[in-house]
Amino acid sequence: MQKQFNPVSAKEAVRIIKSGDRIFIHSVACAPKILINAMVERAPELKNIEIIHIHTEGDAPYTKAEYDGIFKLNSFFVGSNVRNATQDGRADYIPVFLSETPKLIRQNILPLDIALVQISPPDKHGYCSIGTSVDCTLAAIENAKIVIAQVNSKMPRAFGDAQIPIKNFDIFVEHDSPLYTSPCTEPSNTEIQIGKNVASLVEDGATLQLGIGAIPNAVLSQLGNHKKLGIHTEMFADGLIPLVEKGIVTCEEKKLNKGVIIASFLMGSQNLYNFIDDNPGVAMMDVAYTNDIAIIRQNPKVTAINSAIEIDITGQICSDSIGTKHYSGVGGQIDFNRGASFSEGGKPIIALSSVTKNGISKIVSTLKVGSGVVTTRPSAHYIITEYGIADLYGKSLQQRANALINISHPNHRENLFKEARERFGWNRIYSF
Ligand code: COA
Repeated sequence: MQKQFNPVSAKEAVRIIKSGDRIFIHSVACAPKILINAMVERAPELKNIEIIHIHTEGDAPYTKAEYDGIFKLNSFFVGSNVRNATQDGRADYIPVFLSETPKLIRQNILPLDIALVQISPPDKHGYCSIGTSVDCTLAAIENAKIVIAQVNSKMPRAFGDAQIPIKNFDIFVEHDSPLYTSPCTEPSNTEIQIGKNVASLVEDGATLQLGIGAIPNAVLSQLGNHKKLGIHTEMFADGLIPLVEKGIVTCEEKKLNKGVIIASFLMGSQNLYNFIDDNPGVAMMDVAYTNDIAIIRQNPKVTAINSAIEIDITGQICSDSIGTKHYSGVGGQIDFNRGASFSEGGKPIIALSSVTKNGISKIVSTLKVGSGVVTTRPSAHYIITEYGIADLYGKSLQQRANALINISHPNHRENLFKEARERFGWNRIYSF
């Protein structure tokens, strides 16, 4: 029987929260601000509330120092809104493959009391859409004891796993507000050069995954002469739309979900959110599906394009921390890196600028103390900077060092060679 759609105020809705609850918050653009604020207003009556989410946009008021002992965030990804709190120890981070975030919920390793989510109004068949973020939110909706939903007519009606019967939600709060948007910045000259280098490896008919950060959009901007590209990714941003409009992304060569763009969450402008609204050409799926290596590998020429913070000359790739300071998370980097490696003609790529904006080399002889090795040496294949491409796969440590130093920033090469000579005992001109 269809559940009664009987909206209440945000204040009334969050009355059900009690001390000791574990609460999930909908991800990225869908963080339901009105419910979050109403929950935080109840702070004086509550204690020991654990908050769980992947990356969210907007404020995260529950991480403020004044709520110590009341709210504690354990996130699956450290976004910019919780970075200071995580680095200061007020919030914490759970290292987990993005593909396995739903498993932590479904297998009751992290049982949920409450989920705060955002949905579209029900359609004529009684289905609501969780729009731009299905990720692990679907698992939260299926498993939380109580699901409180902000019903927002601005939430795009997306297909795939985003369609959820209204009976799966318990408490409704009607409130229309724009979803959070993320600015799409113009790529720098360095990023464009990196994009060109990556594009030179992308074959026609490839299935692309694009990770988080500035470089994926720069890559997309360089694919204007490609043909029959497919998309099976955990996320995408605005850079994809022109390629769909120009008929470059068709998904026709994909073996799985032929003709359909597969993603799990979006981060971008309102234009991006409009793009998926009522669009049967895009399926927003559970991240346990999009990021399953056994699923990813079924498509041909999977080309996984992700970024990193630092890489040592043997191919250890740090992507989630700057030394001991947690910066982001593991995300789906390993899921797609391995999926691409197993795919026929697949190419796992890590693309990064050779130096930071302060001129610090990202290619180093040893990682900073405390750096998180997200992608390990045997998983490293193509590393790309603005200076070229290093193919590490099947290469020895010394061959890798040589290849990586050759794509490092020229200002750092002499020093890197010196350190490599000391490390590997190169006392002659080494022939690679
Ligand atoms: N040493 C010191 N600081 C460094 C650094 C280094 N080696 N590398 C980066 N930084 C600093 C930058 O200066 C910048 O500082 P700012 O915030 O003050 O501007 C910041 O770290 C971010 O670097 P940037 O290169 O701009 O990052 P990005 O936005 O392009 O994202 C990652 C790069 C690696 C952080 C991002 O891709 C990520 O989180 N990856 C892991 C998860 C993943 O790959 N998921 C896959 C699919 S979503």
